[in-house]
Amino acid sequence: MRLIVCDNQQEIANVGADMIAEVVAANPAAVLGLATGSTPVPMYQELIRRYEAGKLDFSSVRSVNLDEYYPLAPDNDQSYRYFMNHQLFDHINIDKNNTNVPDGLAADPAAACKAYECIIRDLGGIDIQVLGIGGNGHIGFNEPAEALDPLTHLTDLTEDTIKANSRFFESEADVPRCALTMGIGTILSARRIMLIATGEAKAKAIATVLSGKLTTFCPASMLSLHNDVTVICDRAAVSLCDEATIAALS
Ligand code: F6R
Repeated sequence: MRLIVCDNQQEIANVGADMIAEVVAANPAAVLGLATGSTPVPMYQELIRRYEAGKLDFSSVRSVNLDEYYPLAPDNDQSYRYFMNHQLFDHINIDKNNTNVPDGLAADPAAACKAYECIIRDLGGIDIQVLGIGGNGHIGFNEPAEALDPLTHLTDLTEDTIKANSRFFESEADVPRCALTMGIGTILSARRIMLIATGEAKAKAIATVLSGKLTTFCPASMLSLHNDVTVICDRAAVSLCDEATIAALS
């Protein structure tokens, strides 16, 4: 695991965009694993800037998103499909037919989850997976629990997550109680992983991740099982880590 501590949002956005640009330069038809939430937005804006400047070409790029609320229609302005279109896809030259987000209206969610795994396999796997992290240590919607699901699955959201995400909805009651999410194994099968974390609210989870110990009660700690993970943080997100840990991973 490699740690990059940045001084501000723009530096985080640049480091993340550099990693994505490197993957796309190596393979113009790369498969990007993408996340929603507030954290990756500055990086998406940086990717848009580089596309507009003619430095990045997404015309052959494919993408798979981590998760989607369930049940929620793709055109609902709180859906992750809507988020991706508005925050990134509508502003770059990616072919939307090459973008994949789990189907928040699937009549048979179990079948849709199986089909999502097939999509990822048929794309040849994920070249780089972008992740944010919940204050409770979740990645995707893999919530802290006694046991974790390896593959894409339907899951209940925890009260913590419902509360944290209610800021995007009119009221807490409007937050869907379930989601379709890649599993921990799906995430770990990506060739490279980038985890971005900003703010003090992520400090406890990041300290657990960087400790290198595995616990299902911090699902992101499972990233220590992967051999190519880059954690990109601001100083607040590493504020509960000791200097020796930071120095060892930097
Ligand atoms: C989003 C996702 C979530 C978020 C996490 C952090 O697709 O899977 O795990 O990455 O909840 O969200 P923010 O960035 O809003 O703090």
